[in-house]
Amino acid sequence: MEFNIALLKGDGIGPEIVDSAVSVLEKIGEKFGHKFNFTPYLIGGCAIDAVGKPLPEETVEGCLKSDSVLLGAVGGPKWDSLPGDIRPEKALLGIRAAMELFTNLRPAKLYSALKEACPLREDLVSKGFDIMIVRELTGGIYFGERGYRQGKYGLEAYDTECYSETEIRRIAKVACETAMKRGKKVISIDKANVLESSRLWRKVVHEVAEDYPEVTVTDMLVDNAAMQLVRNPQQFDVAVTSNMFGDILSDEASQLTGSIGMLASASLGETKRGLYEPIHGSAPDIAGQNKANPIATILSAAMMLRYSFDLTAEADAIEKAVDLVLDSGLRTADLVGDSDTKPLSTTEMTAAVLERI
Ligand code: IPM
Ligand code: MG
Repeated sequence: MEFNIALLKGDGIGPEIVDSAVSVLEKIGEKFGHKFNFTPYLIGGCAIDAVGKPLPEETVEGCLKSDSVLLGAVGGPKWDSLPGDIRPEKALLGIRAAMELFTNLRPAKLYSALKEACPLREDLVSKGFDIMIVRELTGGIYFGERGYRQGKYGLEAYDTECYSETEIRRIAKVACETAMKRGKKVISIDKANVLESSRLWRKVVHEVAEDYPEVTVTDMLVDNAAMQLVRNPQQFDVAVTSNMFGDILSDEASQLTGSIGMLASASLGETKRGLYEPIHGSAPDIAGQNKANPIATILSAAMMLRYSFDLTAEADAIEKAVDLVLDSGLRTADLVGDSDTKPLSTTEMTAAVLERI
């Protein structure tokens, strides 16, 4: 089969890790007889430098006419002092909105080979964990009304959390469908003891759950969820939550896997076209040094094969190769910790994955 993939390499380590994932896709293409055509587009800081805005129209059009999109990361100190609406990060929100990608799947699982990289005590993760965070991605406070106004203490800035029944219903449905293919357990995370939007969230989630009698849906307050993730991560199967809570909790969950350099993500809407990206950022401190862990991006490419192209065997082959690499003790710098293992570079790690496909 033939697929057209838009590449948004972005800033910092973005180009290095996207190149790694591209070489993995090319290897899959050779091995399984597919053709992947890659077209690069600008996004983030590099787009600001080139054309004065973080999300050029050409990029949006290119993504909308592609079969799927692979993204690296955006942002860096160079653009940190720009106003909010032309910051690199705005492009990420913009492309998710333009592609109507309201679902963000962020799997966090403990690889047995990485158990020693998990910061939790061994008895807490003896059975491992395998969590699918389902984060709502195009609503909530990241997209709500915002601005400046005069308030009781003078100038104030505000952002608003707002969720419609429709937005909650469609993400709750994704969570239940996802749970049906896994452990049939959904934990819905909110702050319903304080927020009105969370009370609506909770009500709608339970209405949706009625259509899935096999799925157990329970609620958890977000502060408790932050604690439960480090107390007993094994209790989570599917965790569904709002945009901001999902952003925060997925970073927390990633650290439990040993490194944020391991976590892939898929952003999906109603169509097969998705956007796939590591959950980590552009890591400007190590950019251009061939040190970044490419695994999160490589696993994001695997998610693209699975969710956008229905290429299950091909996705399995990538995930298996990553397992084998980790089992054989190979590590990038982020995974080495205080041990005296010699870390692999980005290109060495990529080569190690390629060899095992
Ligand atoms: C992420 C990032 C982004 C987000 C930022 C950079 C806009 O933190 O993908 O988790 O909040 O979604
Ligand atoms: Mg984040």
